[in-house]
Amino acid sequence: MTDEELMQRAREAAGLAYAPYSNFFVGAALLSRNGTVYTGCNVENASYGATICAERVAFGKAVSRGEREFSAIAVAAASGVAAYPCGICLQVMSELMPEGRVLLEEDHKLVSYTVRELLPKGFSLAT
Ligand code: THU
Repeated sequence: MTDEELMQRAREAAGLAYAPYSNFFVGAALLSRNGTVYTGCNVENASYGATICAERVAFGKAVSRGEREFSAIAVAAASGVAAYPCGICLQVMSELMPEGRVLLEEDHKLVSYTVRELLPKGFSLAT
């Protein structure tokens, strides 16, 4: 699975987003270490705080299938703007994918960041 293929899966997932409040349609494609891809889209709610981001939907699907190790996640917004993961999603990534990469589109170009670059000091219970 190439980075471009993973991004294509994220773009497709954005088409399934339920985002009637923001009209900001996001898709994510999460690659597990064994090569399986889990997609997610944002799922909004009239009680806005109940909204779930695309990234965490993908992690929820994967973890509930027994996956624990991930190498990369691609995130795409249907609008084409770079969809940088929010702080809560970065916190989830720093726990489940600390060595992982985040693929985004900046000006229609695929770019790759490490989770550590985007969240250098995530919260941990370890001392
Ligand atoms: N959103 C995501 O799904 N992922 C991100 O990386 C950023 C934001 C969603 C949440 C909400 O449904 C909409 O985008 C606007 O904030």
